Amino acid sequence: MASLEATHRGGGGGVAAFILLLTTLSAAGIAAGNFNNEIGFNWGQDHGKILENGQLLTLSLDRASGSGFRSTNQYMYGKIDMKIKLVPGNSAGTVTTYYLSSLGSTHDEIDFEFLGNLSGDPYVLHTNVFTQGKGGREQQFYLWFDPTKDFHTYSILWNPQSIIFSVDGTPIRQFKNMEASGIPFPKDQPMWMYSSLWDAEDWATRGGLVKTDWSQAPFIASYRNYSAQACVYGSASSTSSCTQNPSANPWLSQSLDISGQQRIQWVQKNYMIYNYCTDAKRFPQGFPPECSLN
Ligand SMILES: *[C@@H]1O[C@H](CO)[C@@H](O)[C@H](O)[C@H]1NC(C)=O
Ligand SMILES: *[C@@H]1O[C@H](CO)[C@@H](O)[C@H](O)[C@H]1NC(C)=O
Repeated sequence: MASLEATHRGGGGGVAAFILLLTTLSAAGIAAGNFNNEIGFNWGQDHGKILENGQLLTLSLDRASGSGFRSTNQYMYGKIDMKIKLVPGNSAGTVTTYYLSSLGSTHDEIDFEFLGNLSGDPYVLHTNVFTQGKGGREQQFYLWFDPTKDFHTYSILWNPQSIIFSVDGTPIRQFKNMEASGIPFPKDQPMWMYSSLWDAEDWATRGGLVKTDWSQAPFIASYRNYSAQACVYGSASSTSSCTQNPSANPWLSQSLDISGQQRIQWVQKNYMIYNYCTDAKRFPQGFPPECSLN
């Protein structure tokens, strides 16, 4: 599944990526959501639009193409928020992605993927964490609202202690830094923020059972309020002066408090529909080591 995802949504841009990597950028900062300044389309450019003076972005998908964009900056740790309104109606077969990723075969990646469904049937929120090129850490959830009616905020907190996925401020998943137990954690490779809308009818809807209904095209996902409280990756000294300054960047030391722990338990008890750490069939030789630690 992971490799299929990568080929469909990556959409090239590798060369531009390396050029950006060489650019020195200012270190700390809050990006306050003007898409004209913060992102560039890296795939299906003619199917992406920036409207309302940079306040609104839409991606559309039809038989010819989907579309995707990427942050201008690379980040080394950050709290990244985006408001998204997902494809309404019969969205079966469509996948909207929103993730952080570095490049290459040993890349790190933190994924939100929204798997569309038939009208009236719930979206599936699919999450994954790749460290040094290894993923396979899927957890899936239903949402407690209709994500196609309004914009909702999807957040990734990535700091040296943990990765926390949140929906409207409610944490749904945590991946702790377990390097002390030999499990790699993303901390050496800066990541871009990416998002895309693409057709995944071959796997997204119950293994390809339900096909995309192209008579409903174009499918449209909308975005607002991109915010990156983050260390922008630049020269070694500017990057480390940001990542080593938690008093100026409180999100760097943020963790789940008691109420956050209670809310994550509430979500996992009521809305989690798949957890690789309980899929005994998949791991007959025993669960991955982080399952007993996280
Ligand atoms: C989100 O962006 C809109 C403009 O698109 C702005 O009016 C609004 O205040 C922003 N909301 C938040 C919570 O930042
Ligand atoms: C779609 O809805 C069905 C029926 O409620 C559900 O079993 C399935 O998990 C949903 N999601 C996808 C991606 O098929």
